[in-house]
Amino acid sequence: MSREARQAKAAAAWNLTNEIVVVGAGDPIGIPGGHDQCFPYKPHHEYRWLTDCKREGGIVAYDPKSGWVHFEPPVTEMELVWGPSPAPIGRSIEEFGPWLAARSGRPLAALGSYVNAEADAALSKTLSRILSHVRRPKDATEIALMQRAAVATKAGYEAIRRAIRPGVTERDLQVEFEYAIQKAGADGPGYGTIVGAGPDSAVFHLTPGDRALQEGDYLLVDAGAAVDSYVVDVTRTFGCGELSAEKLLLHAAVVESELAGVALCTLGREWHDVHHACAVVMAEALVKLGVVTCSAAETAESGLSSLFFPHGVGHTVGLGVRDAMAQPPGIERDRMVAGVRVRIDMPLELGYAVTVEPGTYFIPALLTDTARREKWGSMVNWDKAESWLGAGGVRVEDSVVVTEGEPLNLTSAISYDP
Ligand code: GLY
Ligand code: MN
Repeated sequence: MSREARQAKAAAAWNLTNEIVVVGAGDPIGIPGGHDQCFPYKPHHEYRWLTDCKREGGIVAYDPKSGWVHFEPPVTEMELVWGPSPAPIGRSIEEFGPWLAARSGRPLAALGSYVNAEADAALSKTLSRILSHVRRPKDATEIALMQRAAVATKAGYEAIRRAIRPGVTERDLQVEFEYAIQKAGADGPGYGTIVGAGPDSAVFHLTPGDRALQEGDYLLVDAGAAVDSYVVDVTRTFGCGELSAEKLLLHAAVVESELAGVALCTLGREWHDVHHACAVVMAEALVKLGVVTCSAAETAESGLSSLFFPHGVGHTVGLGVRDAMAQPPGIERDRMVAGVRVRIDMPLELGYAVTVEPGTYFIPALLTDTARREKWGSMVNWDKAESWLGAGGVRVEDSVVVTEGEPLNLTSAISYDP
C-alpha cells in the first residue's frame, strides 16, 4: 500500500473534523557518556508506517481541513560531508512551527514520538489505538517483507543446527545465526537473539552468554531476521545429542501445542482461546510425565498451567517484534486465561500477523516459591517437578498471518525437530 493510501486509511478511521494530529519519528538516542555515539536508530512505528520513511526527527501531521503534510529536518552538514544524505520528501521542519501555530486553539493529538504539553492525552490515546487497529492487518507488501525475513531466518536456524555440539557456547551459536541471516539477505536480527543452553532454556529473554552446551541439553533459540524493518519472530528448541525419552515427550507436546495454536489462527478467533488450547495440550504432557496429578483440563482451568507456562501465547508482529499491540477501539478487557494475562486480548481479523509461542519451563523461582507450593498443593507432584529443575524448558514459535482460509504460517519451513 502506498503512503498516500495508508494516510487516507488512517484519516478515514479517525473521522476527524477539527482536531490536529502530529506524529513524530523521534530522535536518535545518545549513548550516555558516548560523546557523538548513538544507539541504532529506529523511527516510531506510527511514523514509519504512515510515511514509509525512516527520517530521524521527521514529523507527519494531519489537519482534516487541509490533509496530510510531512516535515523533515534539513540534511545536516555532517550528513552532507559523511553521508548518507537522504533526499527529503517533505517540507522543511522549520515550517512545522508556523503550520501548528496557524491552527492554535484546536484540539491536538500527539502520536508517535511527538511530545507537546498542549496535546490532549485522551484524544492522543484514542487516535493511537485506532491507528494501531488500522495498522494491524498486514498488506501484501508487508507480508512479502516478512516472507523474505522468514527465508533468512531459516538459513540462520540451519546454521545453528549444523553448529550444535557439546562445548559450543550460546554466544557462538548467536554469532552463527546472525552471520547466516545476513548472508541470506536480512538486514540483521529483528530483536535481541535469544540462545539458551540447558537451564538457560527456561529464561524468557536471555542474553546469550558463555554457557556451553552439554550432551542431552535442551537448546532454546528465539531469533528472527529483519528485512526493511519487518520481522519474523521464531523459536525452536533443539537437543544436543540424544535427549532423554522424557525430554523428547515434552518437546513433542510443545510442538503439538504450537501447531494446534497455529491452526486456530483463523478469522474471528479469540486470542484467549488460542492460549487456552495451547495450555491444555502442554498440560497433557505434564500429566503423562507425572508432574501434575490432576487432568489437563483442570490444569488449564485452575491456572496451574501458569506455573509451567507463565507468559501469554503470543503477540502481534510485523513492523518490529511487537507491532500494533493496542487493544482494538471499543474493546476494554483485562482478562486472565489459564492463570495469565495474555499479551493481546482480541478477536483475530483478516491480515493480522501474530506469533504463537507456547512453552513449558521448569523455573526455579516458581517451583520453589512457598506461596505457589501451598496454593497448588497436591495438584503437583513436587518431587517430580523438582527433578526437572536444571533441564530448562521448551518453547516453539512461528509467525502466522490470518487469512480467509487456512492460517499462513510464514515460518513453518524451519524444522521443528529437536
Ligand atoms: N521473541 C521474543 C519475544 O517475543 O519476546
Ligand atoms: Mn515472540
